[in-house]
This record gives sequence, structure tokens and C-alpha cells, in this order.
Amino acid sequence: MSSPEEDEKGSLARRYTPADLGVLTRDELSRFAPGGDGDPRVDVTLAWELLYRLEPDLYDRLVSAERLHPGVLEWLPRDAGRIVEVGAGAGRLTLELVGRGREVVAIEPARPLRQILVRKLAGTGQGDRARVIPGFFDALPVASGVADLVVACSAFTPAAGHGGEAGLAEMERVCRPGGCVAIVWPNHLGWLAAHGYAYVCFDGPMSAEFASPAEAVALARIFYPHAVAEVRRRGRRRVPYDVLGINPPCDLAFKRVPR
Ligand SMILES: C[S@@+](CC[C@H](N)C(=O)[O-])C[C@H]1O[C@@H](n2cnc3c(N)ncnc32)[C@H](O)[C@@H]1O
Repeated sequence: MSSPEEDEKGSLARRYTPADLGVLTRDELSRFAPGGDGDPRVDVTLAWELLYRLEPDLYDRLVSAERLHPGVLEWLPRDAGRIVEVGAGAGRLTLELVGRGREVVAIEPARPLRQILVRKLAGTGQGDRARVIPGFFDALPVASGVADLVVACSAFTPAAGHGGEAGLAEMERVCRPGGCVAIVWPNHLGWLAAHGYAYVCFDGPMSAEFASPAEAVALARIFYPHAVAEVRRRGRRRVPYDVLGINPPCDLAFKRVPR
């Protein structure tokens, strides 16, 4: 059994070094390490960006355990014309959206995650209803007013590199008048409220559902090092979010774009 110090050593915050920044493209560096001197041991947001590119399957194992609340999926429209999702990742939400619109445009900057997403979409047999393309919040490669729903899940933040004022304006530009912009599993609720976003939260206890008790411990060592001892003590594959110390994926903020 590993000590708390060893658990901490295996954590995301200790996983990469500035030498790994070479994996980022120039466009990515300009957003995620604008000073050119980022350190993923200090800036955990940068560590996440490196994870998506260096160990995308590890990231996919994590999100496979962190399913969205069914209420969130119920709330999202079932019969949209075109849906644009920004920061689609490995498709946690995208796979739920395909089939709800004539077309889903999934925008994702990290190439390895796009590759996973394309593979998963092909496996659904509905891959022809989705387009997976590169892009960033602040420069969406989509015409104005074309989407009934523009959505981001666990991707948008007020920070410029991960959305910010420019990113929100872009999401609203792409949305048609009368359509909806939705930020699923939002942080910074006050910031979104100040930008005219209403909030919906769905009830009920929620747990992350890892593939096995051993997988729960292995992933907690990396992503929830402060919770490893408790995850190990419980010995269960289901781990309540309050044990992990994060808010569960049970909410969203949304705005209807005025007609
Ligand atoms: C925590 S992941 C969430 C992925 C997916 N939406 C999900 O729920 O599983 C954050 C995602 O946002 C993407 N991302 C980060 N910065 C971005 C930006 N500036 N523009 C668009 N996407 C971005 C990342 O590449 C990553 O796929």
C-alpha cells in the first residue's frame, strides 16, 4: 500500500514538467501558456491540457466514471436542427447529443481527444451526423446564427484561454436568435449570472462510477490524491462526489439568445 506522500507524488500536479509543453501547438501555447513559461506543476489547468495530449486514454478512463446527471440530459433539447458543442473532449456529452439534431458539430482543440471521439462516434453507427473539427472558444470555426443549441460541458471558464468574455460572445454569435447557449457542469456561477445566464441544478445523490474498486484507487491517486485513503478504505467502485471533494455533474447554466 502506498503512503500519502507516494499518492501525492503520483498526482496530476506532479505528472508533467515544462519539458512537456513541446506537445502544444503554437495556437495552444498562446492560450494555455501565453507567457511561454508555463509550469504544469504550478498551473494545474496546464497539467490538464497536457493530459489531454499526452495520455488521452487516461483522461477518457476518468470521464467514463464521471457520468452526467440524467436530469441534465433530459433538459437538453431532443429535436434541435444543428448543435454545436465546444470543448467536446472524448465525447462524454457528444455521444448523448448525436441523434438529437440533424447535425452535431463537435469542436475540440486537442487532436488526440478528437481521434478518440471520431472512433467512438463511428461505433455508434450515427457518425455521419457529427462533424469533429479543431477550434477554440474565442475563434469558433462556425458561421453566425447557425445553431439551435451551442453547448460546452466541463470546458468553459471565465479565463481567456478557456473561454472568457470572447469565448462566451463567440458561443452566442454562433447560436441563432431564439436558440440556447448552455454551459453544463459550470463553475463560476456568479460570473455566468452576471452575463445573463440562468441556473438549473438536478437533485439526488451522485457517485462517480469507476470500472472497479482498483480503478477507483488508481484514478483517485492521480486526480483526487487527497481522497485516496478514503477511496481505498471504502473499497467500492462507486465513490460519492463529496468523498472526491468536487461538485457533481448535475447542473447547467443557460441563456436564450434574444430574437
Ligand atoms: C474537462 S474537458 C471536458 C471534455 C468534454 N466536454 C467532457 O465533458 O468530457 C475540457 C475540454 O475543453 C477543451 N478546451 C480547453 N480549452 C479550450 C478552448 N480554449 N477552446 C475549446 N476547447 C477547449 C479541452 O481540450 C478539453 O477537451
